Amino acid sequence: MILAANWKMHGSSEHLVSYCEALLPRCESLPHQIVLCPPYPLLPQAVMLCAGSQVQVGAQNCHWHQQGAFTGEVSPWLLVQLGVGWVVVGHSERRQHFGETDGTAAARAKAAQEAGLRVIFCVGETLEERQRGETFEVLQRQLHPLEVLAPTAVVVAYEPVWAIGTGHNASPEQIQQAHQFIQAYMREQGKGEVAVIYGGSVKPENAAEILHTPGVAGALVGGASLDATAFWAIIQAAPQQGGEG
Ligand code: 13P
Repeated sequence: MILAANWKMHGSSEHLVSYCEALLPRCESLPHQIVLCPPYPLLPQAVMLCAGSQVQVGAQNCHWHQQGAFTGEVSPWLLVQLGVGWVVVGHSERRQHFGETDGTAAARAKAAQEAGLRVIFCVGETLEERQRGETFEVLQRQLHPLEVLAPTAVVVAYEPVWAIGTGHNASPEQIQQAHQFIQAYMREQGKGEVAVIYGGSVKPENAAEILHTPGVAGALVGGASLDATAFWAIIQAAPQQGGEG
């Protein structure tokens, strides 16, 4: 399974140290891929702290060019140079607040792949879209631009917008339906078997049910991932078999 901690714009250098002290020794010899995604300024320290451990480090975004006149943006190539292995792309918060489009998200994913990063590509419908019965249409629209990607492993995170930070996770049925749709669509597009992870109010209390839902290859955890004990409880709830999904 893939268990990724998205710290969003939270955390500090001190918090990172105590978090890694608590988490890293516990993660030894787990059959899972654990990914820690702190804010950009903490990445070098995270890479140092996680070196030689089971935990890899991810960024929360990157630009679609390797370099250029893009003030304030971050190159995927530089992330690789830092020792970062993963990147989250197309998060709904970027789509909502920072003008991310389906096209720019896919372009970032392509550049990230070309630089050598593993991509966690986020998709998900809003509450209004779900209520209008448009969930699959939205997922297809968001995934379609990924046709520019090489048919190598991209991880898709299904994160229904209405479940993010609300305490209302999607039900196992809703998750299973969405994951099946995403997997079938990606197969049709010639992308092979894609690992689909779930994000949206994953907590220690609901992690076992979510992570045992058919078609779920892991979780992208926001709020609960800031606390090492809570994130560890989520990791422990993951089924032991299945490698990194
Ligand atoms: P929460 O776990 O806080 O709902 O956030 C989910 C998320 O956005 C992870 O990327």
